[in-house]
Amino acid sequence: RLELRCERDGAGGAELRLDAHPALAVSRAALLPPPGGPGDAAGQELPVESRPFASYGNALHITLPQAPRAGQLLTFIIDYEAGEGPGVCWLSPEQTAGKQKPYMYTQGQAVLNRSFFPCFDTPSAKFTYSATVKVPEGFTAVMSAMSWEKQKDNTFVFKMPQPIPSYLIALVVGDIVSADVGPRSRVWAEPCLIEAAKKEYDGVIEEFLVVGEKLFGPYVWGRYDILFMPPSFPFGGMENPCLTFVTPCLLAGDRSLVDVIIHEISHSWFGNLVTNATWGEFWLNEGFTMYAQRRISTEVYGLPYTCLEAATGRALLRQHMDATGEDHPLNKLRVVIEPGLWGVNPDDTYNETPYEKGYCFVSYLAHLVGNQSKFDAFLQAYVNRFKFQSITADDTLGFFLEYFPELKEKGVDSIPGLEFDRWLNTPGWPPYLPDLSPGQQLMRPADELAELWAADGLNMEEIEAVDITGWRTYQLVYFLDQVLQKSPLPEGNVKRLSMMYPKISKAQNAELRLRWCQIVLKNNLEAEYSKVKDFLYNQGKQKYTLPLYRAMWGGSEATRALAMETFSATAPQLHINVQNYVKKILGLGVAE
Ligand code: BES
Ligand code: ZN
Repeated sequence: RLELRCERDGAGGAELRLDAHPALAVSRAALLPPPGGPGDAAGQELPVESRPFASYGNALHITLPQAPRAGQLLTFIIDYEAGEGPGVCWLSPEQTAGKQKPYMYTQGQAVLNRSFFPCFDTPSAKFTYSATVKVPEGFTAVMSAMSWEKQKDNTFVFKMPQPIPSYLIALVVGDIVSADVGPRSRVWAEPCLIEAAKKEYDGVIEEFLVVGEKLFGPYVWGRYDILFMPPSFPFGGMENPCLTFVTPCLLAGDRSLVDVIIHEISHSWFGNLVTNATWGEFWLNEGFTMYAQRRISTEVYGLPYTCLEAATGRALLRQHMDATGEDHPLNKLRVVIEPGLWGVNPDDTYNETPYEKGYCFVSYLAHLVGNQSKFDAFLQAYVNRFKFQSITADDTLGFFLEYFPELKEKGVDSIPGLEFDRWLNTPGWPPYLPDLSPGQQLMRPADELAELWAADGLNMEEIEAVDITGWRTYQLVYFLDQVLQKSPLPEGNVKRLSMMYPKISKAQNAELRLRWCQIVLKNNLEAEYSKVKDFLYNQGKQKYTLPLYRAMWGGSEATRALAMETFSATAPQLHINVQNYVKKILGLGVAE
């Protein structure tokens, strides 16, 4: 049921056009009579036609009896069935942690929810929603909604009274249970994981929310819950309002991957309250969120640790730009996404640039202001100014210059080489990098150790003098990134390294496993190829899966064979988008 208000006379004609998908079987559309007025309660049936629109969806054309007038309220009923579309994932029991019951989840961002329900599937439109979900006995339904109520007959009723864009509507149905971890937070997981989930985040979430509120203003979403997804969930985290979805890889046992949670919490202000109006300006969501994440992290964990984490982010940006070439058109903050049949699928533009170059641009704005608390106050004013709206970078930067008239006066938007326009529209390495030197105390030992391991005859005495047992996960991650950058190392070194540090080579932590697998592949350490395979069998996160397939495909005949063998065994358990990206890497031809 869609309730719409006509904004303007004319323009749209006597037609409602919605985003939909070939996997959505629409059986009927009708216009309901105005409430209290005469007319058939089942509504007046309307002609519906599904027309080609893009590789990632169709346009649903619904013909109205007459063109609506400005201010007119219209209520439509659309009967449809959602099948095997990319937005709705149906998992067999084997694909869950408990392996007993099936599971379904939806993932809307960026343009997948059009295969879940017909809608205006653009981040430029916001709306409230409610849902009634009936599930079989033994299952629980949860959604990205502020209120959740269980009624009889396994029926759950959800209400989201705050306006949100379509991509933030999300549903999970499975054998899931919950446990409290804070005054407004609980974790959700399959029963076999709930204890680990509770242990991972018990008592830590509230502090992030409180710091976020102090920095960016009120948390408007009521609850903040976390749902641990099945291993094939393609993202580290997804900021569905009230209910962040996360990969089970976060269950590291030591809270070491909590930066993902801080990131998703930060979206409560940047992304979910102030939203990019188009996917071409995705950096407004992710770049501001990276900045907000690191502000919260700085308050909670201090500057050195946060700079270390930011340095690993910068390494990812370096790897991405090296792989694509700095001048690649996706390496600008404002990306041109042509719509339509020959256009670009917004989901295919996903990469590190909006995150880490976006972070650099926001850091540059803070640098121009030159005072952290003034910039924090600006961020809070920015959220307040644009909350519940969808905006473009021009709105953001216009507001920045308006908020700091003395900077506008000075013409900070056109300093040669650092023009705002260049930040937005020129691909390449960020023209300004925030100073991460406060992290040096944590990075230097890792840099030095990587140097030792890259040497031609290993100086084992010096190596053994370095004790890594007390290192934090991100210090090890940083160390491994340095090793990877220097790889291939001289013959035999990686084998020695593997034996010396079982903490790394036998790690269960996903971030460490990813790096170790990359090092194994780049150094052709055949003895440990099985670890690559195990990791890819074990989880399906896009940011872990694609780099490993790229490395395998770019390697030897043996690693190419490993890639093919692993993919044919694991493909069915990967998210359909991830499957298609891997196919592209392996040259397996994907129908457009
Ligand atoms: N919103 C993103 C995930 C996303 C992006 C889904 C684009 C679909 C399309 C989420 O907030 C995110 O960025 N997750 C990161 C977390 C990391 C940056 C800490 C991830 O999944 O790795
Ligand atoms: Zn994000």
